[in-house]
Amino acid sequence: MLLACLAGACGDDTSKQDPEVAEGRASLPEGWDQELALTRALDRDPAPNVVDVELDARVSRVEVAPGREIEAWTYAGQSPGPLLRAKVGDTLRVHFTNNLPEPTTIHWHGLEVPADQDGAGEHGSTVAPGETFHYQFTLRHAGTYWYHPHYNSTEQVWRGLYGALIVDDQVEPELGDELTLLLHDLDFDQASGEIDSTDELGELGRFFGNEGHTLLVNGRVQPTAFVHPGSTLRLRVINTSVSRYYRLAIEGQKLTRVAGDSGFSERAQLLDDVLLVPGQRSELMLSVPADASGELLMRALPHARFLCADCGEGADLMRFAVVPGSGQTRMPPASLARIEPIDTSAASQRTLTLSQTTREGHTALAINDHAYGYDTLMLHAHVNSTELWTIVNDTDYDHPFHLHGFRFQVRSEAGRAPAVGEWRDTTNVAARTKVELAVFFDDRPGSWMFHCHILDHAELGMMGMLHVE
Ligand code: C2O
Ligand code: CU
Ligand code: CU
Repeated sequence: MLLACLAGACGDDTSKQDPEVAEGRASLPEGWDQELALTRALDRDPAPNVVDVELDARVSRVEVAPGREIEAWTYAGQSPGPLLRAKVGDTLRVHFTNNLPEPTTIHWHGLEVPADQDGAGEHGSTVAPGETFHYQFTLRHAGTYWYHPHYNSTEQVWRGLYGALIVDDQVEPELGDELTLLLHDLDFDQASGEIDSTDELGELGRFFGNEGHTLLVNGRVQPTAFVHPGSTLRLRVINTSVSRYYRLAIEGQKLTRVAGDSGFSERAQLLDDVLLVPGQRSELMLSVPADASGELLMRALPHARFLCADCGEGADLMRFAVVPGSGQTRMPPASLARIEPIDTSAASQRTLTLSQTTREGHTALAINDHAYGYDTLMLHAHVNSTELWTIVNDTDYDHPFHLHGFRFQVRSEAGRAPAVGEWRDTTNVAARTKVELAVFFDDRPGSWMFHCHILDHAELGMMGMLHVE
């Protein structure tokens, strides 16, 4: 079908897409991203600054490869869920219905929403089966975000509940044809398509962090995008895996990293590979060489987050097939964003130590020796205050630390300042190292979670609650 498409025979397949987006794709072959395209949620409100969508969660069979279906947990029957896209300053309304056999929530990962819209914490926002919840908030910062449940999260995310949320700036620089890539992994029964539970390996599975043997990019096994020599792509990459780290690389190519979790970095970085820990995002420009032919292979290189569990050969993720034509080359501007350092002269300091422990005879993971669900760590902070947090990893394996509701600036990681200034909400704390971060709590009181985004680890107790009051 795709070849027919490339030959111009796939008709009005782009009709369901937004006209602006379709125009931006003119430089690439028609249907170039067909295997990867995300369905955009329909905006039911004609008002220019309101995006109003309807979404449900339900069990549905989805195809991961030609003729291969799995019984996924989906948003609107799709995994990944529909792409939610709006502009800075817009109000997003999501009328959500839970058609799953168990409660769920939607958490807006990385967005600065009011506490009672965060889909997590103590605000009673769990949505029971058959029930509806209306989320509503204003989008503050441009960037690449995502949404996922925060109830029985390991299992629900693993089974396919995740989607991208893009916030565009009023004016976006020309960085190339856009492709949003959600990286995921899971295990399922090849015959029935039934997804294996993350409980199957029990405590040990949680402790290592469940990693699936099937890797998916936008819900597909090793999909292909079609590009021209000389074209530039802007890749918005989101790690939605419950535990897997991706050290992303494209064979023989450098990647230009332009943005992190929440908007552009100060300036672009030219890198051989880019580490994405669970929950994290990076935006990358890929320049297809003018003399390229054949295909460019995107891989996850071996990376040891835990002993050498995944130090093998790495894994192939997707391909960029180069087809004749001439692409449009883009260069990043010299300066991408101004990142004003948070003033920490009056900041109060705290240390959060991540450790391994036991509770009731079981392995548990703790923050400051408190394990969530047993003796949950409760922190208190004031609205309109700045804090400097030192996250100490007292274990022999990595943890991706995530804070809800407030994006932060990393001051140092393993003793070094980060290479570029940028805003993050998730950051790796490598084994036996420290990360220092600065955060400003604006006037959004309520309870906010912070946790290891290896969701299995959060479940083993590496999660706490921050009360901003
Ligand atoms: Cu992706 Cu508690 O978050
Ligand atoms: Cu979050
Ligand atoms: Cu962890």
